[in-house]
Amino acid sequence: MAVASNRPATTLLPLAALVAVAGSLFLAGPAAAAGKTGQVTVFWGRNKAEGTLREACDTGTYTIVVISFLNVSAGPGNSPPSLDLSGHPVAGIGADIKHCQSKSIMVFLSLGGRQHSLPSAEAAADLADYLWYAYFPAPAPRAGVRRPFGDAYVDGLDFFLDRGGRPPPDHLDALAARLWSYNRQFRARTPVQLSATPRCAFPPDGPALRLLATGLVTRVNVRLYGDARCAAYWQQEWDKWAAAYPGSGLYVGLPASERTVGYVHPKNLYYGVLPVVQKAPSYAGIMIWDRYADKQTNYSSYAIQWA
Ligand SMILES: *[C@@H]1O[C@H](CO)[C@@H](O)[C@H](O)[C@H]1NC(C)=O
Ligand SMILES: *[C@@H]1O[C@H](CO)[C@@H](O)[C@H](O)[C@H]1NC(C)=O
Repeated sequence: MAVASNRPATTLLPLAALVAVAGSLFLAGPAAAAGKTGQVTVFWGRNKAEGTLREACDTGTYTIVVISFLNVSAGPGNSPPSLDLSGHPVAGIGADIKHCQSKSIMVFLSLGGRQHSLPSAEAAADLADYLWYAYFPAPAPRAGVRRPFGDAYVDGLDFFLDRGGRPPPDHLDALAARLWSYNRQFRARTPVQLSATPRCAFPPDGPALRLLATGLVTRVNVRLYGDARCAAYWQQEWDKWAAAYPGSGLYVGLPASERTVGYVHPKNLYYGVLPVVQKAPSYAGIMIWDRYADKQTNYSSYAIQWA
């Protein structure tokens, strides 16, 4: 980002003083950041050394944790999607999901995979059915569908739309519509929520646009990192997202590691980025990539206070 500094992470420590000042500013009157929501999303599952899901939820600095990734394999007639959790054992995750939910932290599952295609709307609907029975609170099991997290269920599905420069597969709109249709069985409750995580460049590719045009994706994590152009023109791209989706909750996606392109020092987050993004009526919070990096830097300990 234009405002990023290259200071080493150790300069985070003196920022405790800044945090104290910021705290009193919020009490003092016209808030520096009028659009605060207190929402921080983190991606978990990309490095075994990040610790468990439970530990992530116990930090108290996240309001949504996105398990990443559930990967759809290549080709037609594909095998069921498989979890790529960087070596985390799957066995304890169901209990950890319940633990997070008991603390009012929502748990999403992100759909990834670099190769997959969804050859038709029917294939997309089949995948949605599979996801419902394998990961969501389906009232009855379906023969032949295993539940990797047991009777625990996730609160939402995230569409991870970055495939290293290749467009996402088609028919994600059909997948979203079918999965969302299961909500109709429930009164006063929305067991299926949908989010998307695109790169910052606007407009995104056609399949992503069609997915967002369904109006069912209520949270969009705009990745302002991992790409030098996004990092340099973040404000311009953010404004385009905000203008295009005034009704969706937009999260500003930032890396917790200064080694990632687009890193924003906490001081610049507070004074440079948040005052800009929080002007958008659809600003919803901060998304942090990822739990492993955040564990090293404690970036979310600032984010949760200012988000
Ligand atoms: C799963 O998908 C993610 C995101 O698309 C990708 O980074 C990762 O390498 C994939 N894992 C495997 C085993 O293909
Ligand atoms: C992050 O927080 C943990 C736990 O409070 C602490 O042990 C660690 O030193 C902190 N790291 C940094 C870089 O501030």
